[in-house]
Amino acid sequence: MQSKPLKICLASSEFTTLAKAGGLADVASALSIYLDRAGHDVRVLLPFYARIESLGLDIEPVPELASMSTRLGGVEQPYSIVRARLPNANLKVYLLQCPAFYSRGSIYTDDQDEHLRFVLLSRAAIEMCQHLRFAPDIFHCHDWQTALIPLYLRTVYAWDRVFEHTRSVLTIHNIGYQGMFPSYTLPQLGLGSAEHLLHQDDLKDGVINYLKTGIMYAQLITTVSPTYAREILGDDYGMGLNVALRERMGTVTGILNGVDYDEWDPQTDTLIPARFGPDDLAGKRACKERLMLETGLEANLDRPLVGIVARLVGQKGLDLVEQVVPSLLERRDFALNVLGSGERRFEDFFNWLQSRFRGRVSFYAGYNNELSHWIEAGADMFLMPSLYEPCGLNQMYSLKYGTVPIVRETGGLADSVQQIDPSNRTGNGILFRDYNAQGLDWALNRALDFYQDKELWHAVMLNGMRQDFSWDRQGAQYVELFRRLSH
Ligand code: ADP
Ligand code: GLC
Repeated sequence: MQSKPLKICLASSEFTTLAKAGGLADVASALSIYLDRAGHDVRVLLPFYARIESLGLDIEPVPELASMSTRLGGVEQPYSIVRARLPNANLKVYLLQCPAFYSRGSIYTDDQDEHLRFVLLSRAAIEMCQHLRFAPDIFHCHDWQTALIPLYLRTVYAWDRVFEHTRSVLTIHNIGYQGMFPSYTLPQLGLGSAEHLLHQDDLKDGVINYLKTGIMYAQLITTVSPTYAREILGDDYGMGLNVALRERMGTVTGILNGVDYDEWDPQTDTLIPARFGPDDLAGKRACKERLMLETGLEANLDRPLVGIVARLVGQKGLDLVEQVVPSLLERRDFALNVLGSGERRFEDFFNWLQSRFRGRVSFYAGYNNELSHWIEAGADMFLMPSLYEPCGLNQMYSLKYGTVPIVRETGGLADSVQQIDPSNRTGNGILFRDYNAQGLDWALNRALDFYQDKELWHAVMLNGMRQDFSWDRQGAQYVELFRRLSH
């Protein structure tokens, strides 16, 4: 690297392989590992959740960070920070220890103090830099959980010269989750005389919106695909933040997420039953057979198999699946493998579908990383009919595994999937535009028809498998933005 390495502090509520609820975890870890390998000095902070304790990580105390405290909610909240060694990278990962906040059953909760759990993360990330005398060029914040950092840096901690050259970047992974809390919690944030900098109309309406505050004060705002960056400026996708975003329009950039091919490559994936690649697809057939057998499906290898792996929430377009898939299963011969957990109504639906179409539908309710790899490897098609999708990772994993994505044309799905054209065998998947049952029905029928044309299908699989969505390409775009900002 010719230019000076950047100093970057990245604060995140999720981080693969330590704590994952969705794609944020994959991005936080793969991006920071990329930046570290590219020679930048990266420090990551995430909470020491209860489940991380059971992973048996190599943990080291950090004397400067051993007994810290910050004033939260009117009381002094003690915490400490330790360093974790990752088995797969040298990256400097720090864990925020505060059992009162993080020794709970899940990463996110509906508890009364949910806001404080992440205010502590935000403030501790800043205080960690102070105590290490680490002067970041870039403070990289992710989603509402760390979106107050830009305001804290400009106010409560602005006195510290360690932040003299620090610029804050907020990456929005999902504008559907904004971190909105009652305004009576305001004194708990410790903003002192900076309270007037919060959005005053919101305060009058009785709320503090963490993500909006980040949008107001981060020096740069990014989101996880170019199409989503355009979409969130409008009424349909902005979810009430489009006005705040439009005020910062010049600073909103979309960078498509990358894929960590150390984890998601069928040629090296140790979690799947057999390995395969574009030059030898025999292993994919073996993966399909094992997947069908182990998930209780009839092992009919000629029957197209559709996979779904998702948080079972409205965003993922599952109401369309409810409307379309039962009748399509009556009419056409295909099988369905679903993995996910979330809203009760969707879990009930997939349980019903499984009992209605026994041997053709399999549903695993819960979180299962190994099964998610099996489905990527064994399915023929991957379904993501999302209402909105900031980026989406599974369609890109699918492409690498020769599993043709069927997606709605929105956000990162529109930026990574190209419509199949049977006349010249270009394209890598099937997109439908309008969010309605006819759209999804059309897309699924088209996929099932194309599947019958073995040569076309093979060409389309290879088109996807040969694409490169690696962080080497995508991460470089962050570095370029960071450099422009820190000059
Ligand atoms: P989102 O972040 O909105 O959930 P993404 O497509 O960006 O959507 O990322 C989802 C990630 O979470 C993928 O890596 C996917 O494999 C994983 N995932 C989602 N649900 C499950 C589950 N039930 N079991 C295992 N992995 C899951
Ligand atoms: C979010 C989005 C998803 C995106 C992920 C990682 O949770 O829903 O589309 O891929 O974050 O950026």
